[in-house]
Amino acid sequence: SANVDPVKEKTLAMIKPDGVDGNYVDVIKKTILDSGFSITQEVELQLNEDTVKSFYAEHASKSFFSNLVQYMTRVTHPESFLTSGPVLIMVLEKENAIADWRALIGPTDANRAKETHPRSVRALCGLDSQRNCVHGSDSPQSAAKEIMFFFEKSSSGFVSKHDEL
Ligand code: PPS
Repeated sequence: SANVDPVKEKTLAMIKPDGVDGNYVDVIKKTILDSGFSITQEVELQLNEDTVKSFYAEHASKSFFSNLVQYMTRVTHPESFLTSGPVLIMVLEKENAIADWRALIGPTDANRAKETHPRSVRALCGLDSQRNCVHGSDSPQSAAKEIMFFFEKSSSGFVSKHDEL
């Protein structure tokens, strides 16, 4: 009935190093809020290799794994001399958050996103399958796992498990 609150769901969103470095944080957050999500937690982190390898453990056997680890730990612009690049990790909450955030970011390959989903986040700020600007949990199981990976509950609410910048 109209009196029943919709069940809210949480998902993990991440703005990857090229998204943070390219100054896409504000426009992505505006898109998130305009789309009806609330951002319940957020932390800016410099990921290290061990953290990335653990987060993406299911892809450890993929040919692109070492490229993915390097990309997630540093800015890879050819013109950049930086050896690090932080990410912004957020927990998003709303009804159907997991599927809706995945729909909002568009296909993994940002090249394809530009063709098939021109209004998606990856079409806006991504370049290809590696430099695709954002991450989103792909299922309720991975959302729960990925939120627990970065955040834990403490007496003062949810806090980051990793060193903040
Ligand atoms: S798979 O094989 O279908 O499970 O992989 P996919 O879901 O497409 O991608 C999983 C994550 O790996 C990243 N990825 C890549 N990184 C570097 N190089 C290449 N070629 C590449 N292909 C995929 C992709 O961006 C996914 O990251 P997340 O953060 O999960 O979106």
